[in-house]
Amino acid sequence: MMVVGTSTMKLSRLGPGDCFYALIGPLGRPSELESYPTVLMVAGGVGAAPVFPIARAFRDRGSRVVTIQGARSSELLFWTEKLAAVSHRHIVTTDDGSAGRPGLVTGPLEECLQQDVQRQIGCVYAIGPAAMMKACCEVTRPFGIKTVVSLNTVMVDGTGMCGGCRVNLRGQTRFTCSDGPEFDGHQIDWDEFLGRQKTYAHEEQCSLERYLAQYGQAGVKPFA
Ligand code: FES
Repeated sequence: MMVVGTSTMKLSRLGPGDCFYALIGPLGRPSELESYPTVLMVAGGVGAAPVFPIARAFRDRGSRVVTIQGARSSELLFWTEKLAAVSHRHIVTTDDGSAGRPGLVTGPLEECLQQDVQRQIGCVYAIGPAAMMKACCEVTRPFGIKTVVSLNTVMVDGTGMCGGCRVNLRGQTRFTCSDGPEFDGHQIDWDEFLGRQKTYAHEEQCSLERYLAQYGQAGVKPFA
């Protein structure tokens, strides 16, 4: 978990013996795993966590798995060994060049697609920050390759009742919590999605400032 706001800061301060008020799940729909000769998985930042079980499942089904794992810098990379262990090919990138290839995941993604002369890559999974998923979809679109993304919308109830997690798929409204989180990335209205992600930025900042004013920052780690 990366500490980015009030809730993750609260979670990061839990110790042995502490507990949540409540936890519900699993929610949403499971990944739909079709048969492909090769699957290309792109994991950005914390996206490595959801990519890992999907990559492992494809590998267990006999697909060749190519994984591109990226992060801003080396200290934000995790589970590289786990991802490498379930991948036939594993490429690491960092924005600052502190590990793997310098640059964004979209560079090796485009290279892999261009090298795929026999059209073995049946599907691309891209999971990570919204801007990264959008960029991956723009790379794959001209190749006509199905691209699945896992959305990280703001959620409230998580059961399809509040509409807070809605996403626009070619004019059709879908709820990320109950219809997703995985969708065809080429159908998403990314500009609307990115705009909605910032809807509560001010309230989130105020919440964090209030929390820090009350409890301080002592003991907070960037990861927990
Ligand atoms: S979180 Fe409320 S409808 Fe999805």
